[in-house]
Amino acid sequence: MACLRFCAYGQTKIRQGRGLYNLTSIFTIYYKTFIKFYRKCKVQRDDTLRTEISSKGQSSITNIDIICDQYIDIVFNKKITSDTFLMGLRSPEIVKAARPGQFVMIRVRAGSDPLLRRPFSICGIRDDLFLVLYRVVGQGTAIMAEVREGERLSVLGPLGVGFDVPKNDQISLLVAGGIGIAPLFFLAQSMKIRNIRFMAGFGSSGEIIRIERIEGPRVDVSIATDDGTEGYTGTVTALLEECLKKHGPEKDSLSVFTCGPRPMLKKVAAMTMEREIDCQASLEASMACGLGACQGCAVKTSSYEGQTYFHVCRDGPVFPAQSIDWGGL
Ligand SMILES: Cc1cc2nc3c(=O)[nH]c(=O)nc-3n(C[C@H](O)[C@H](O)[C@H](O)COP(=O)(O)OP(=O)(O)OC[C@H]3O[C@@H](n4cnc5c(N)ncnc54)[C@H](O)[C@@H]3O)c2cc1C
Ligand code: FES
Repeated sequence: MACLRFCAYGQTKIRQGRGLYNLTSIFTIYYKTFIKFYRKCKVQRDDTLRTEISSKGQSSITNIDIICDQYIDIVFNKKITSDTFLMGLRSPEIVKAARPGQFVMIRVRAGSDPLLRRPFSICGIRDDLFLVLYRVVGQGTAIMAEVREGERLSVLGPLGVGFDVPKNDQISLLVAGGIGIAPLFFLAQSMKIRNIRFMAGFGSSGEIIRIERIEGPRVDVSIATDDGTEGYTGTVTALLEECLKKHGPEKDSLSVFTCGPRPMLKKVAAMTMEREIDCQASLEASMACGLGACQGCAVKTSSYEGQTYFHVCRDGPVFPAQSIDWGGL
């Protein structure tokens, strides 16, 4: 009922014709109403959590999804390349709950400009810090680049469904394009198995995100540059092609994990699907809420398990490659 009254209010305001200003304020009210609704759900969720913890004992806590909405201390925010930064944020709760492939929604500064939080993959964890590796592409990330140690940001997370980490002795091929290295670094960091080949592609040597500059255990990465200024000359998908040929006879023990620009993801999906190799792809989409409420991040499925659309934020961002309608992206 409250919702219907709210819609009627919105339509009246639009009819009054105050244009963009009214649309912005209506959207702001919608957003605030949604956040109130979310917080109410969260309280109920926390109550359920407390009930489950008390009935099952403390050891069950790690098996339960926890979403935190917190102001978090920024411990560092350092430049890695000309346009890439690594931010360390202190949250023992997010560190405890985070799984590789999950993301957080960050409000880049207090107030309503920019209005929406921005989504970022969790790139790794160290003690009670989690890391965010980000590239400056617009207003929100430019503001983030100015954040200083000791400041606090509002963060919601961890969100979404991450990678399904193989437990047996699989050979894991990690294929990153540019900033897509972020979630794959966390995945590599958390894999118990050491049978990993990590490949990362960049335009040229100046754009390479040196993984050794990201804190945490050492991970070896094969670099490909489009212009051949460092590492393998060519795209990271060409490097993957060579690797798949080499491991051809063992294809049943291969698993591919990928994140990067959509054309690269499409290519990796096609290469793995035609060889019937297991592949999990982390997608990006425009996100307003990050919680499955606004429909802003819908992508078409390949009619997978009876579903027509996925919400990237809630059903993903990691999906089995064969579940996505790549032609429609
Ligand atoms: C699940 C998820 C995880 C993500 N993880 C990361 C991460 O770990 N690190 C990271 O840097 N980014 C990540 N992104 C992308 C990140 O959310 C956007 O780059 C960010 O929201 C841009 O905000 P902005 O305000 O700076 O740019 P906007 O002002 O919103 O956009 C500025 C311009 O940049 C373009 N743009 C927006 N996003 C991108 C992009 N990803 N690449 C190229 N151009 C873009 C827009 O189309 C626009 O033209 C992730 C996105 C999703 C959905
Ligand atoms: S971002 Fe709102 S539904 Fe996914």
